[in-house]
Amino acid sequence: MYKQLAEIFKQYEGEKGAVITVLQKVQEKLGYLSKEAISGVAKFFRMSESEIFGIASFYAQFRFTPRGKHAVKVCLGTACYVRGGEEIMKTAEKNLGIDRGGTTEDYKFSLERVACFGCCALAPVMLVDKNVHTKMNLSKVREVIKRYQGEK
Ligand code: FES
Repeated sequence: MYKQLAEIFKQYEGEKGAVITVLQKVQEKLGYLSKEAISGVAKFFRMSESEIFGIASFYAQFRFTPRGKHAVKVCLGTACYVRGGEEIMKTAEKNLGIDRGGTTEDYKFSLERVACFGCCALAPVMLVDKNVHTKMNLSKVREVIKRYQGEK
C-alpha cells in the first residue's frame, strides 16, 4: 500500500501544509481513502491517524468506502431541487437500498449528490457513469436503475 503512495509522498516531502493536497492525490489514485491510506498519510506527516481522519472527514469531497462499478449521481442543485430532485434521490436510495454517499454491498453502485451538472433546463437530472438522464420522474429512475441492475 505505502509503495503505491510513495510517488505522491516523494512529491510532497517536507511540505507540512500539504495534508489536503496529499489526501486528494491519494483519493485520485485509490478512488477512496482506505484505513491503510489514512495510516500511511499519518505516518508521512508524523501525525496521528485520528488527526488525519478528522481533517479528511471535515471535507465532503473525501470518501472512506470504495466506489461501486456504477456511479449514480443525482443533482440537487436549485433547478433540479425545485423540480423534485429530492424525490428523485429518495427513489434512487430506495431502489439501490443505500443512502446517498453509500455503496451497495456488492460494489455495483455508489450514490452521490451533485450540486449542478450544468443542464438545468433539463431538470431534474441524474447521471449514471457518463450517461446523462434528463427530465427524470420517479418511474424513469426505477427503470434506469433496473436496467443497470439487470446487466451481467
Ligand atoms: S441544478 Fe441540476 S443541472 Fe443544474
